[in-house]
Amino acid sequence: MTARSFQPPVRTLMGPGPADVHPRVLAALARPTIGHLDPAFIGMMDELKGLLRLAFRTENALTMPVSAPGSAGMETCFVNLVEPGDKVIVCINGVFGGRMKENVIRAGGEPVCVEDPWGRAVDPSRLEDALKANPDARIVAFVQAETSTGASSDTRTLVDIAHRHDCLTIVDAVTALGGSPLEVDAWGVDAVYAGSQKCLSCTPGLAPISFNERALAKVKARSTPVQSWFLDLNLVLGYWSGEGKRSYHHTAPVNALYGLHEALVMLAEEGVEAAWARHHRHHLALRDGLEALGLELVVPEAERLPQLNAVSIPGGVDDAAVRGRLLRQYGLEIGAGLGALAGKVWRIGLMGWSSRPQNVLYCVSALGAVLNDLGAKADTGTALDRVQRALDA
Ligand SMILES: Cc1ncc(COP(=O)(O)O)c(C=O)c1O
Repeated sequence: MTARSFQPPVRTLMGPGPADVHPRVLAALARPTIGHLDPAFIGMMDELKGLLRLAFRTENALTMPVSAPGSAGMETCFVNLVEPGDKVIVCINGVFGGRMKENVIRAGGEPVCVEDPWGRAVDPSRLEDALKANPDARIVAFVQAETSTGASSDTRTLVDIAHRHDCLTIVDAVTALGGSPLEVDAWGVDAVYAGSQKCLSCTPGLAPISFNERALAKVKARSTPVQSWFLDLNLVLGYWSGEGKRSYHHTAPVNALYGLHEALVMLAEEGVEAAWARHHRHHLALRDGLEALGLELVVPEAERLPQLNAVSIPGGVDDAAVRGRLLRQYGLEIGAGLGALAGKVWRIGLMGWSSRPQNVLYCVSALGAVLNDLGAKADTGTALDRVQRALDA
């Protein structure tokens, strides 16, 4: 076999993630690898934890990246916080809420599912009803930014309800972190996990997490050991915690952590609130352009995520043909529908470094051209005018 170096094609990533990685992050990844117990590396880790606190808006001491993708952040929360027999209310309004339920079952817990329609936010009144019906529930779990549908749930309200019923909260912020408002301390979120590959402009493969004292106390008070050795926070903290000497737990993904560090330095330079505002501004411009092309967004306006726009595929338009042409002719990736929305929607992401004016213009112009090529009437000129007007506003 003759193998050659892999040269990826040039793409513009406007799907559900990964998003475009910033050149500064790519450059950071290529810096020389050093030992993961080297004092210089440990200094970088400490800074990284501080930067993650800034992104999550928290003072939580237990704030760190898990050395694995967002799904491992999810598992870290569930395997550490759910003990066999614990009743957990899981709000499900898309694919990732469904995965939370699976996690509860595998951790030996008893899930109570609160279902909302796909494309809608989690309904706080249904959560309240479920908590009244299950006074023995210990934990409430939900997804703030449901990437499978583009719906944004009201974390502050849901956490408030959970606390009134004496439950801890686990919040999925994989797509939320850096892209839309998230205030871990001010809203009282107990445990939260995220992903590096979405609104942070970083490569996939790392899962920032943060636990407050209440959540950590539940982990420490467990009567059964955490069933996962790798994700057991009692062990991981020996490596990541700032107290005393660091002990070997696993070999940290050294260069990947350089990349996350650089991405977070960039977030700090921009300002977290400015990053939220940027995602919102570009979402409005994309929305205007898509609507001028005759396309409709799936999620009601008040519940829309700026960083993930689910668009109904017009009748008679071939989903795969459009996405295929965008990729082949324009190097542009948009996402297909997932789960119940497969074949019905496109998911257009504006995350991190992908959330830029030129990407909005490029996506609307390429999509307009492809729709016209395939026989659907789309007024690309007007759509681009609308985008430009929104960007100038
Ligand atoms: C809301 C949400 N949760 C969890 C995940 C899982 O993250 P990963 O694919 O990095 O494991 C994703 C990934 O798209 C996501 O969007």
